[in-house]
Amino acid sequence: MRVEDMPAGSALDRIASLRAHLPDSQVLDRNALATRDPGWDASNLDAFALVRPDSVAEVARLVAWCQAHRCAFVPQGGRTGLVGGSVTTPEQLICDLGALDRIEEIDPDSGIAVVQAGVTLGALQEAAAAVGLHPGLDLAARGSATIGGLIATNAGGITAFRTGVMRHRVLGLEAVLPDGRLLDDMTRVLKTSAGYDVKQLLIGAEGTLGIVTRAVIRLDPLPNGRATALLGTTGAARALDIVRHLQGGSAPLLAAEIMWSGFAAVTCAALGLDSAQLPLRSPCLLLVELGGASFEAARTALEDALAALVETEPDLDGIVCASIAQSAQLWRLREDTDALYRLHPQAPSYDISLPAREFDGYVARLRPALKAIDQAIEPYLFGHLADGNLHIVLNQPGPLQPDARTAIETVIYDELRGLGGSFSAEHGIGSKRIAALKRNADPVKLALMAELKRLFDPDNLCNPGKIVA
Ligand code: FAD
Ligand code: MLT
Ligand code: ZN
Repeated sequence: MRVEDMPAGSALDRIASLRAHLPDSQVLDRNALATRDPGWDASNLDAFALVRPDSVAEVARLVAWCQAHRCAFVPQGGRTGLVGGSVTTPEQLICDLGALDRIEEIDPDSGIAVVQAGVTLGALQEAAAAVGLHPGLDLAARGSATIGGLIATNAGGITAFRTGVMRHRVLGLEAVLPDGRLLDDMTRVLKTSAGYDVKQLLIGAEGTLGIVTRAVIRLDPLPNGRATALLGTTGAARALDIVRHLQGGSAPLLAAEIMWSGFAAVTCAALGLDSAQLPLRSPCLLLVELGGASFEAARTALEDALAALVETEPDLDGIVCASIAQSAQLWRLREDTDALYRLHPQAPSYDISLPAREFDGYVARLRPALKAIDQAIEPYLFGHLADGNLHIVLNQPGPLQPDARTAIETVIYDELRGLGGSFSAEHGIGSKRIAALKRNADPVKLALMAELKRLFDPDNLCNPGKIVA
């Protein structure tokens, strides 16, 4: 039953029942939600209520209440997900994990952190940095994205080529399953071959198989200093050659982000940066970062490595940051993706992966194929070069008409499987990529996914309408 169809007072009754059942949790009704920021998707807070449990026990009690009342619930963290995984409908209940925000332990000796699901990535990075460590994950939404959300989407980001994606960072996990049971697998060590690794099913499940409440995250040493360069290149292949050259040096390569000039021109203008100082005339830009014992040491290593490159390529264009502040400015050029959406609100965006050596050929085929659908379509291109993750945002006011959407998805997705890539690299499936999943995934995998969903959540109450629908 939709909330609008409920008898008068029914939603109020439910709120009263929730408040009585969960005395220690904050319960917000629909009116209170209307005044809140929904985050990345306008439909994120379109629910009859939001509950903010303050303990794992309260999460379990919330799920029990939902089972008793046959009420669908949607887990939410920072609401930064990009594929509609946390969108709601008015008869659903939000389980907001934001109050589970305790970093319970950082153990430098074992190189682990024990955290609650609502801890933001930025908070964990800061706490780990205080003892010279890093969670091995970084992305622009670090200030809001939570560990629970990052686990649920199997997030990737900037460091994935070196430290893996979220499923490689999670050693242990605790979750409340849709039937109310607590899955307690808070393993603190790397090695365990003790049967089926059930926690891996919840990683990347986008809250459809349970609510992540706590996790053990692996930490890596953090270089004391880092220095950034922005280089102009002829294309992705040349950029990849530079990446391989830098990886051959003794200083660790910490980042290798690629931007085609159309993307960089938009973010440069949005940030009011002086374009004359940047290698914007090149077709492609490569943002690289090396680590070192200090900023100066990292910068020297970067200059030396680039000097060796200039010997074989005297025209190599670019800048090495002169200060930490300038480095931050170069990063903003890459990370201010919101500038695209301010220019083209709700622009369709795609998040694919393929071997990075294939980028140039793929992009060369992509542009004319999109133009064949509509002459006006231009793609903005950027991504995480070193792991083959390419982001494509179109200059179209979204959402697209169904025919155009199918034609565009055919162009963007169809060759990826043959290349060994993926139509969804790091953002997930959520509610927006379900049709693409059905078209692009192996039928046996799809059937097993549906069976797993039924096994975990036979009544389809746990984030229904996401991934498996
Ligand atoms: P939400 O958006 O609240 O939820 C996302 C999904 O996880 C939903 O399906 C929700 O139901 C589920 N969920 C949330 N918390 C839990 C929980 N505790 N238990 C179970 N399910 C849960 N992603 C990348 O991978 N790489 C990037 O480089 C990257 N860059 C980004 C840059 C920007 C500017 C933005 C806005 C987003 C970016 N993202 C990126 C996407 C986003 O940050 C990730 O998807 C993030 O992991 C979502 O975390 P969240 O806490 O905001 O989750
Ligand atoms: C990024 O790498 O900036 C994000 O994953 C992509 C996006 O915001 O569209
Ligand atoms: Zn990304």
